[in-house]
Amino acid sequence: MPRIFSGIQPTGNLHLGNYLGAIRNWVQLQADYDCIFCIVDLHALTLPIEPAELRQATREVTAAYIASGIDPERCIIFNQSMVPAHTELGWILGCLTPLGWLNRMTQFKEKAGKDRDNAGLGLYAYPVLMAADILLYRATHVPVGEDQKQHLELSRDVAGAFNRRYNTDFFPLPEPQIFGTATRVMSLRDGTKKMSKSDESDYSRINLTDDADAIALKIRRAKTDPAPLPSAVAELEARPEAANLLGIYAALADEPLPDVVARFAGRNFSDFKAELAALAATALGKIAGEMKRLMADPAQIDAVLRRGAERADAIARENMRYIADIVGLLRP
Ligand code: AMP
Ligand code: TRP
Repeated sequence: MPRIFSGIQPTGNLHLGNYLGAIRNWVQLQADYDCIFCIVDLHALTLPIEPAELRQATREVTAAYIASGIDPERCIIFNQSMVPAHTELGWILGCLTPLGWLNRMTQFKEKAGKDRDNAGLGLYAYPVLMAADILLYRATHVPVGEDQKQHLELSRDVAGAFNRRYNTDFFPLPEPQIFGTATRVMSLRDGTKKMSKSDESDYSRINLTDDADAIALKIRRAKTDPAPLPSAVAELEARPEAANLLGIYAALADEPLPDVVARFAGRNFSDFKAELAALAATALGKIAGEMKRLMADPAQIDAVLRRGAERADAIARENMRYIADIVGLLRP
């Protein structure tokens, strides 16, 4: 069976983009793939985060996976740092990764900002650890949102570099899987910026833990332009905010975008926003309720992570033995 690996950073504020761009698609994949879904806590350390916040967010992402319908029996759910081979393989791959490849990563440039010299080595090496996450399990497919495409290309390049250097075909080249209409959910305050956990304005995103009132308020305040809703998809190119809201509607309703555009053509934003808010509240309300229930029993969540880590570690150890042998690390 082909194997899937994907992950989300436990950095708080899990939002609609994470759900539509990632988690929701993973639920569909459980039936046809051997799935490993990770909470990448080591990646979360690449930017400053409080220990208590990291612990809380790790449990929250786990709860979100389960609440959205990922079955911890069928899939492996675990947090990255519980399996030490991720960092071990990260080092080996780092030794094969030219700096020039890392210098091209746009996410590093965005996150490091202007003061490049003060950015951490971990932030720079982040895509190498991501490659290790995937290759450690010899995953063949990686479902992610569009923003991760470049990192995935790098994972493929690193796998190829390893295979060539050691004249082996040990690592499959992982395929990106980017699904659906809402591969890139944009900020509610600025249709040209992606919805993000780290945006300082909470009005920019719909959090998975927001209740119906919060969702309605954020959608009502969402930025729009003064014209009524367009009657053709082509008109959306010049109207990023309308494109984003209609895209979110289509994704949540599971309808093709042209149908949604046709239905709301010529209507004003306030009517449309009310319908969108109701739709979002219904779709996300179930998940938020289930997350709350799960978060009330952290011991239960920790047990899921422990069990998942045992299963992941068994695969990782076996593959690491082969990898060590291939590169000549003696394991007497
Ligand atoms: P992150 O929050 O960066 O750990 O991302 C976790 C997953 O959610 C990745 O697969 C991302 O591609 C996806 N994702 C994050 N933000 C968005 C967004 N605004 N739209 C669509 N997918 C997203
Ligand atoms: N970089 C990914 C993100 O920010 C998270 C991630 C880490 C990941 N390791 C991964 C995603 C491996 C897919 C596969 O969204």
